[in-house]
Amino acid sequence: MSATSSARPVLPPDIRAMKGKAPIVTLTAYTTPIARLVDPHCDVILVGDSLGMVLHGLPSTIGVTLEMMILHGRAVTRGASKAQVVVDMPFGSYEESPAQAFRNASRLMAETGASAVKLEGGTQMAETIAFLTARGVPVMAHIGLTPQAVNTLGGYKVVGREAEAAKVVADAQAVEAAGAYSVVLEKVPENLAARISQQLSIPTIGIGAGVHCDGQVLVVDDMLGLFTDFRPKFVKRYAELGHSADEAIAAYAAEVRARAFPAPEHTFQDQVAKSTK
Ligand code: KIV
Repeated sequence: MSATSSARPVLPPDIRAMKGKAPIVTLTAYTTPIARLVDPHCDVILVGDSLGMVLHGLPSTIGVTLEMMILHGRAVTRGASKAQVVVDMPFGSYEESPAQAFRNASRLMAETGASAVKLEGGTQMAETIAFLTARGVPVMAHIGLTPQAVNTLGGYKVVGREAEAAKVVADAQAVEAAGAYSVVLEKVPENLAARISQQLSIPTIGIGAGVHCDGQVLVVDDMLGLFTDFRPKFVKRYAELGHSADEAIAAYAAEVRARAFPAPEHTFQDQVAKSTK
């Protein structure tokens, strides 16, 4: 079963209804061509703020702006016809107040065509999640390791070992009670993620949280081997496109230097009859 087998685009209630039925397949995308590749295979396409590091060379997600998310969100919705598109709320666009969060979430949805937003935080964001969901903004929550809080967490660490477990459980319960339709669990120990997935009635989508989550998400550039600056343990490389691209670019450079490219078949002549176009 896949939510994408339906004739219309997947919506948040379809994702919620997949709980206990079929694993929810999620990948990030930031551009139209990648969205087109991902769309037939995924239930959810996440326009993650990881685009700051993956596409824009930023050191973290902290510098990502609402305008960047709108630009890439639009590109992705143009390439997606079946999967649900979710856009990340960037750092600073929702933490101040529920009203600020609604103003920016409604812009993200109206200007990109996405059907939901994702925001980071558990108990402390519950009031905001309730405010948004009561006003027509479906929210995917994100708890465990929340990369926008890298400076307060002190790095990209596993969150929820031993004494920390109770806080992650409380965060999961709080976002569910506030009305989130799903929750990302990032870098949470497998047994804790399994327990939370069993306790909640909304689906959990894991990244570095083990196989017992209700779905999985990866950054598409990580799993394709296109982003290689660092490689967390949870990334499985399904292809080495960065390596293939390097070989192709090196071959092009060598052929240009040897005057082997362009060949006659890539070249126009002045006699119309002989030219290809
Ligand atoms: O920004 C992102 O890509 C994410 C996923 C890794 C969950 O938040």
